Amino acid sequence: MVNTLENGIPLLAAERIEKWYGKIHALRGIDVVIHPGEALALIGDNGAGKSTFAKIVAGVEQKTSGRLLWKGKEVDISSIKQARNLGIETVYQEQALAPQLTVMQNIFLGRTETKFGILGILDNKKMAEAARRVLDELGLAVGVNQEVRFCSGGEQQGVAVARAILFKANLVILDEPTRALSTRGVERILQFIRSMKNEGIAVILISHVFPQIFPITDRFMFMSRGQVIAEKRREETSPEDLSRMIIQKTA
Ligand SMILES: Nc1ncnc2c1ncn2[C@@H]1O[C@H](COP(=O)(O)OP(=O)(O)O)[C@@H](O)[C@H]1O
Ligand SMILES: [Mg+2]
Repeated sequence: MVNTLENGIPLLAAERIEKWYGKIHALRGIDVVIHPGEALALIGDNGAGKSTFAKIVAGVEQKTSGRLLWKGKEVDISSIKQARNLGIETVYQEQALAPQLTVMQNIFLGRTETKFGILGILDNKKMAEAARRVLDELGLAVGVNQEVRFCSGGEQQGVAVARAILFKANLVILDEPTRALSTRGVERILQFIRSMKNEGIAVILISHVFPQIFPITDRFMFMSRGQVIAEKRREETSPEDLSRMIIQKTA
């Protein structure tokens, strides 16, 4: 469900973002806006700059120039920590999860103060219940006391999504979450995205599998060589239309 902040201000507005990696011009002044609860898919060929944009928003890479406005105010996102403090979380194929810790410990990792108490006197029972509720909603059967290294790749993504939901992230970036996943794995990712949208979380989704992600995506931005070359709302396009655009552009 797409909402807008007061006066229609976007959650995130990226303006004229440029990125140079040495002599490589990875982003050539792109403008991107996203609203709460909106799922925005970045599509386009390899090397288009999709991951670079995601990394700039997540605080992993620094933009060379341009502005980032968060809820209408200019912000500096120069570290992952700063992004997290704004409520921006990234779910990569290879997660930043602690493999030897349990599902629950990972969900609560790095939270020194939560509604479940201050670290050290955290209420374990309440934490386990809260974790279980979110995992159930996401359709994940993993035990809260299971070590993350024994979870499948899809389940690990689910743990990261559970953390984003439980701690009320504002924006979650999923970079190629559907790569090399089974049909069932893709179904699960779609459920994650639906759950996040229901919570009012905005999602930036980078994926190649249009037919599958099509129904849950609100808007598609088609990137090529560091620029946004087309933008379509779901109602204005179709999976066939999008595939055709990519083939024409990359032929
Ligand atoms: N760390 C880096 N150092 C140098 N060049 C990079 C780096 N990361 C990405 N690039 C280059 O920037 C361009 C955009 O890459 P990327 O954002 O990964 O594209 P996409 O995710 O759309 O496939 C490519 O030409 C890529 O080779
Ligand atoms: Mg990429």
